[in-house]
Amino acid sequence: MTSTPDASKQRFNAEAAAWDTQPAVLEATRQAFEALQPLIRSFTAKKGSNLDVLEFGCGTGLLSMQVAPLVTEIVAIDLAEGMVDMLRAKLEKPDSPKNIIPICKLLMDPEDPILPPADVNNPRGSRKKFDLITSHLVLHHVPDLRPFLRTLIGCLKPGGRVALTDYEDFGEQAKKFHPKEKWDTCERHGIQREWMEGLMKEIGFTEVNVRVAWTLKKDVERWQEGDEDIMDFPFLICEGARP
Ligand SMILES: C[S@@+](CC[C@H](N)C(=O)[O-])C[C@H]1O[C@@H](n2cnc3c(N)ncnc32)[C@H](O)[C@@H]1O
Repeated sequence: MTSTPDASKQRFNAEAAAWDTQPAVLEATRQAFEALQPLIRSFTAKKGSNLDVLEFGCGTGLLSMQVAPLVTEIVAIDLAEGMVDMLRAKLEKPDSPKNIIPICKLLMDPEDPILPPADVNNPRGSRKKFDLITSHLVLHHVPDLRPFLRTLIGCLKPGGRVALTDYEDFGEQAKKFHPKEKWDTCERHGIQREWMEGLMKEIGFTEVNVRVAWTLKKDVERWQEGDEDIMDFPFLICEGARP
């Protein structure tokens, strides 16, 4: 497929205002948070509550808002300004978490000055590194996952971990995750488990573990008479560590 960051950006700017009204999106976020909680808790058990998180492709911040109370700070990045503006509007409310930093950027460089500095007293110095990087429902939009994963590993502290969640490419039927009209904004129809494991190892992640973490029920298009209109989609959690 031939999606581009621009096509992705246009689609998500257009969908931003109504993003949080989609039941499947809300349910997938709830399930992602449930899958991530053991990892977050094992980190905090080791390090106390001091945990710096980066979320790639945060969208309107559905997952960031749930993760925020469990961590020190979460930098929430997305390339679509419409999605980030929705998150910024949520953060203006008085009872919102105060530890989310929204950023609109297609981040390619772990030393990009748009990231917070590692040392607040040296604002032009090297950029902050993270204990945990998450991304939910993003991998299938990224044209080339090699540079993307290189950026991620470069944003981790030594010993830091990624936990990336997206639906599995389990064959032809996985294409039904999106209606045909949205296929041109997807780079791939889900993530193939073994391929992703190999790619993460090639980039330099250790302790790589890609497994099905949950299954989402989702309304789908019926391509022919007799097709189901609700399908089960397995979701993968792709874990790895920076040595
Ligand atoms: C399907 S949406 C998921 C949004 C959010 N994670 C959620 O589950 O509600 C995919 C998001 O990833 C963003 N995105 C795609 N590629 C990206 C990249 N390389 N860097 C940052 N954001 C990206 C899109 O702008 C969009 O907001």
